[in-house]
This record gives sequence, C-alpha cells and structure tokens, in this order.
Amino acid sequence: RSWRQLSRSSDGRVISLIQQAKSMELLRAHRAEQRALIFDGNPAAVERQHALGKRTARERLDLLLDEGSFTEVQQLTRRRSGGPHTDGVVVGSGTIDGRRVYVYAQDFTLFGGSLGEAHAAKIQKVMDLAVATGSPLIGLNDSGGARIQEGVLALHGYGGIFRRQVEASGVIPQISVVLGPCAGGAAYSPALADFTFMVRDTARMYLTGPDVVEAVTGHRVSHDELGGADVHGSLSGVATVVHDDEESCLEDVRYLISMLPRNYLEQAPHTGSSDAENDERPRLAEIVPVEPNQPYDMREVIAEIADDGEFFEIHELWAGNVLCAFARIDGHVVGIVGNQPLVFAGVLDGPASQKAARFVRFCDAFGIPLVTLVDVPGFLPGVEQEHSGIIRHGATLLSAYCEASVPRVQVILRKAYGGAYIVMDSRAIGTDLSLAWPTNQIAVMGAEGAVNVLHRKELANAKDPARLRSKLVAEYTEEFMHAGYAAERGLVDDVIDPVDTRSAIARGLAMVRDKRKALPQRKHGNPPV
Ligand code: HXC
Repeated sequence: RSWRQLSRSSDGRVISLIQQAKSMELLRAHRAEQRALIFDGNPAAVERQHALGKRTARERLDLLLDEGSFTEVQQLTRRRSGGPHTDGVVVGSGTIDGRRVYVYAQDFTLFGGSLGEAHAAKIQKVMDLAVATGSPLIGLNDSGGARIQEGVLALHGYGGIFRRQVEASGVIPQISVVLGPCAGGAAYSPALADFTFMVRDTARMYLTGPDVVEAVTGHRVSHDELGGADVHGSLSGVATVVHDDEESCLEDVRYLISMLPRNYLEQAPHTGSSDAENDERPRLAEIVPVEPNQPYDMREVIAEIADDGEFFEIHELWAGNVLCAFARIDGHVVGIVGNQPLVFAGVLDGPASQKAARFVRFCDAFGIPLVTLVDVPGFLPGVEQEHSGIIRHGATLLSAYCEASVPRVQVILRKAYGGAYIVMDSRAIGTDLSLAWPTNQIAVMGAEGAVNVLHRKELANAKDPARLRSKLVAEYTEEFMHAGYAAERGLVDDVIDPVDTRSAIARGLAMVRDKRKALPQRKHGNPPV
C-alpha cells in the first residue's frame, strides 16, 4: 500500500466518498503499522542498547522533557531509496519546567544512529525552528557518525548542522548530550555547543578511533582511554559535565536549562527574592584564612554567597584551579568565576584561562551578570606553560572580560597579583563594582618576590640577609599591599567586611542590573584563542 492508493482507485480514477471513507480506514491501518514499526524498533537492537546501560531515543526524551509535552515532527521521513521511517533520529519539541526547548535524539538501534541525508535534514529542521522561536536546542548524540553508504551526502549533512550551530551561537543556548559513540567529524557538533554532557562507560568521542590510532602511531588504546567521559571531562576539557548514568545526566540538563534564558533577548528565570541584600554570613570570615598561602575551598565561599547554597558548576573536573558556576543571588541567575586556592594555589594557567574565557563569553552573550571572586597568586610560570601558549590563553580570558557588557562585580578576597589581577575583572578592564576584603593584597607581585627584585644588590651585600629581607618585606607590605592603597585611588569601590560579602554583591548587582553598554561598531573582533 502506498500513499497514492489512498486518493486514487487502482485504475487511477479519483475515488468516491465511500471509497474515501474506506481510504481513511486504510490510512489508519497504515499508520498503526508504521507506528508499531517506529515505536517498537528492532527488538534485538533495543535489547542490546539496554544491556549496555543505554536507553532508546524515545526513553531518553521521556526523561528529559516534561511528561506528555513532546511533539514529534518528521516521524515519517526516510531515505530517498526507502528504508525505515525516522531514519535513525527522533526530532521535535517539548518543554522543561514548562519552558519550550527543541530536541533531537539519535536512535542507535537504527543504522547505529548514523547520519545520512534525511537524518541531517531532520536535525537541521529543528535547529531552524529553535532559532526561529528563540528556544534552546538540546541534541542527544548516540551515533556511528557519517552513514558510510550515503557518502558525501552524509558529510554535506554534517556541514549544514555545523553552520547552523555557529550561526545560532549566542542566539540560543545549545546543549549536546553524548550518550554513546560520537566519532569522526560528528564530534564537532558537541564541540560547537555551549555545554557538552557525557556519561561514563558508554559515551565516547574522538576524531579517529583506536584502530586508526594504532595503525598510524602503533599505540594501542581502548575506546575509553582515548575518548571516554573522564578523559574529556578532566583532560581535554571537551566535556563540560560528566555523569555516571543517563538518568542523572538528563536530570542535570533539566537543571541547567532552569538557569538559562531561552535566548539572548530574554532574561534567565528569576525565582523570587531571598533577602540577600541584608544577609550576613559569619562563616565567610572563617573559611578564608588571612595567611595568603593557606589553601581553602572556594566552593565553600560560593555556597555562602549563592541562594540556598546551591550552584551548578561546569567543568568541575577540568582546570580545577578556576571555578565556573551558575548560581542565583536574590533569585537572579549569575555566572560566578572564582580562583580555587585548593588547586595549584589558584594560579591561572592555560586550561584555566580557556575555561573561564568560554564561560565569561557565554554569560555575556546571554545577559547573565558576572561575579568574579579573586584570590590569585598570578599566572603559572614554567617552560611547558610558555611553550603551550599561556600568553595566548591568558589573552583569551582578558579579551572575554574586556568585551563583556553584562553587569560585573569583582570581589578581591585575599590576594590579586600582577597580570592575573588585571585579567580577573579588574577596574581597568571594565568591572562595574570592585569590592575588597580588608585583608586584600593587590600588587604587582607578592612581597618576597618584590623585595628580591628591588633590593637584589643590597641583599647580596648584607651581613644578615635574612633579617634585612624580613624588614624590607614588612616595609613593602605596609606601603603597597594594604587594603586602602587601591581603594584610595578608586580602583576598589569599597572595602567590605567579609560577613557582608553576599549582601554587598546583591546590592551591587541590583545597582547595575539595568546596565546597557554598546561595543564599537565593526563586523566582528578577532579574539585570541
Ligand atoms: C552506517 C553504521 C555506521 C556508519 C555503525 N553502523 N556505524 N552504518 N554508517 N557510520 C551500523 C553498523 O553497521 C550496525 O548495523 C549498527 O550500526 C550497529 O553498529 P555496531 O558496529 O554493531 O555497534 P558497536 O559494536 O556498538 O560499535 C559502534 C561503533 C562502530 C563504534 C560506532 O559501529 C563503528 O566503528 N562505526 C563506524 C564509525 C565510523 O568510522 N564512522 C564514520 C566516522 S567519519 P547492523 O545492521 O549490523 O545492526 C565521520 C565523518 C564525519 O563521521 C565528517 C563530518 C565533517
């Protein structure tokens, strides 16, 4: 039975009303058959998927979206040459906490979720609708990559997806969830997304698989060692969030969506006031030691500042010396960037700069105010760092902050030295409000280092160099590193009591919430990457 037979009789005549009624019956039967085919899938492939701890595309969408909210489109699409409907991807739209999103979910049980012409056209269709309606796009990836039998048409399909992703960047949030293989050029789709989630043991991403790696380099490596969730979560930085199972992963995607605006013209959802402007936090003074070299966990500081102590950390496993998190302060979503003294003393290196830069750019693109918590000894010295381009990466972060036109509040908790002081949202690069604790040390470098440079000859010739050094260190500290030095010169707007940090940030953000700032007109800048 074909669609044509439904409107014409077998000899080609236009069919009568009675015949049409019969046709409707035929149509219903036909659709029922197709639905069975589409929804039940290949039982052996579904069983295999389940045995691997993976769900089917539709089961995943059920977990991701509000119950009953999914509307599927292009369910009947298939290859020009025929073959199963859906063509291995389920696309459409639904809601998360009542807010519209567009989704595609690759179906590994059909052609291994591989992407051919029709499959790509379906994904492109929902991408276009997501942009047209200003809704986030979430892609659930589980695919063998370009469908080999479709040759260049598959590659062309990927190209169309990548171009749309780039055009949608900064317009709508894009989230990629990798729940199975994501090989070859397909990996560029998660790489172009704003956030990439991966699940341990089942998700893997690489440009060339273990066999090719072995053939080219002679090095035998497993799928997981090459491109598993932990590798991308902690080494390459490709994965933003890593989970143990699909359920918690999709739950977290819902949580992230609850923090994001639907597009660059809308505000992130506001959840009601929390009286943050009058909220004293005595624990803050206990968490941060006065001694500049003592470590502490900046996450504890963030928990004191955020409403309900809740925040969503991104890249938790990568470049731990800087923390990036979404949180709410007085019900308003903010992006928090903080040095983490617990890891490499909170020093900035290449990966930390890249991580923070991408986060700052995302927040700026989507109108999310920035709160920067500074406690930084500087950029990481070293041959490896210099050779791997720390200058370039530091410049990327600098450029991201310089361009950010969202409301910005900087809090210097303890120390801020050298170039790292400038980069971490200093007054000169455009922070709206700079607050500092009374113990802050803002300087070109720490007192020891400064004294070594300024008094090298004196120290070399001194009878008692240790005594002289400690005297000079004390003098330098008193003259240049006291809390008032920067404030007296207007580089810090206020020196605050640590217990008032949450309330001071909340008041500061309220003060600059209506900020509007336009950058100079141009086609686009050329930020260092
Ligand atoms: C067509 C594919 C396919 C593909 C898998 N299948 N990948 N069909 N094109 N790319 C089919 C298999 O033939 C099989 O069909 C079914 O999907 C399940 O695959 P299995 O191999 O049985 O599953 P598994 O053992 O879990 O291995 C999964 C896999 C493996 C690791 C993804 O299938 C694989 O290596 N596939 C090829 C990956 C690849 O090289 N892709 C092209 C990358 S290049 P049956 O009928 O047996 O069930 C690329 C370029 C994009 O993507 C460039 C964009 C710019």
